[in-house]
Amino acid sequence: MEKPIRLGLIGCGGIVQNTHARAYRALTDTVQVTALADIVPENLQKVGEQFNVPPENRYVDYREMLEHASIDAVTIATPHSFHAEQVVEAANAGVAIISEKPMATTLEEADNILAAVHRNSVPYTVVHNYLFNAGMRAAMTELDALGASHFGRSVGMGLKPTDFSADHPTPAFAWRASKARGGGCIIDTSYHEIYSVCALMRSPVRYVEARVQTLRFDIDVDDIAMLLCEHENGGITTVSGAWCVPATDFGWCEMHAENGSLRVRHRVNVADALRRFTRADGWKQLELPEFNETEQKDASGHVRYFTETFNALAAGAPLPVDPKRPYHNLAIIEAARKATTERRAIEILLP
Ligand SMILES: NC(=O)c1ccc[n+]([C@@H]2O[C@H](COP(=O)([O-])OP(=O)(O)OC[C@H]3O[C@@H](n4cnc5c(N)ncnc54)[C@H](O)[C@@H]3O)[C@@H](O)[C@H]2O)c1
Repeated sequence: MEKPIRLGLIGCGGIVQNTHARAYRALTDTVQVTALADIVPENLQKVGEQFNVPPENRYVDYREMLEHASIDAVTIATPHSFHAEQVVEAANAGVAIISEKPMATTLEEADNILAAVHRNSVPYTVVHNYLFNAGMRAAMTELDALGASHFGRSVGMGLKPTDFSADHPTPAFAWRASKARGGGCIIDTSYHEIYSVCALMRSPVRYVEARVQTLRFDIDVDDIAMLLCEHENGGITTVSGAWCVPATDFGWCEMHAENGSLRVRHRVNVADALRRFTRADGWKQLELPEFNETEQKDASGHVRYFTETFNALAAGAPLPVDPKRPYHNLAIIEAARKATTERRAIEILLP
């Protein structure tokens, strides 16, 4: 068997400790965490102990890790404003890159990323994890039988705590509420609803009308995002996201097509995540073919996402999320912000 991919982690915070770690533990034949970088020593120590990474391979400065550690790939899971710089540095160091979403905070940064990745010929991908949970995977296979899609909705609502201060016990709240760190509801939370409904429409967005605003909290980023998108195939989708709405069902997507409709709870992994409507049968729950205990625990789809991505990396095959997807997602987000300030629909110019 080939040697496992030697992985360096840039950022060892909440998502790594609680979610990515489960994937790395499940994939020990394919991937081995060999080096870490984080500016917070406690996080280095915690993740270092989780994966038996020796202290000499734990770095406060990720650039030193890139220079000195023996690694084949990195994952990047830091506040959004660092992604572009860290991906470019990793590409220049010649390692494969798996970045948490979003790709970057602006399309200008995203262009720099693509240029660096291209220049250095390194594999690069972004985590679009909710496409990989059991309900979404089954929904994608159902779509073929339903014919052309014409209308979709996607909702991801929740209630954040009212305290976003830097000394909050969960530091992730503070940077998410900061414009300088690339935070905000649309780019952090609605990000997932945008790629999920686009995947179900199977057609890129051409025009975006939106209101991305700060209605509830005293922060310098948006806490609510409402989008109306027109797709290349003529279909229409809406995306609703909020940090200030107590949701009864945190996240769901619907797609309505020629021969029927689908409704999927894309943010959870539960046996009844997917329903289908046809005129003959009405709404029916669909059995999820691969639903088992592993799937059940993988509510965010990360384990499945990393499994497919590291297997593809090991085989030298194309990675399951092509960079065109996160680039398009960011273009939609930029257009939605512009639509808000200009109070008009914005055209997305596809490359
Ligand atoms: N795909 C998903 O479902 C999902 C869910 C949660 C978070 N995320 C993404 O993961 C990333 C991290 O989010 P989080 O919730 O873990 O945040 P977090 O604040 O818990 O963790 C961020 C970590 O990055 C470290 N860090 C900050 N600046 C750094 C730097 N310059 N160099 C190295 N390390 C640095 C922090 O010390 C911290 O340990 C974000 O991009 C976020 O959008 C994705």
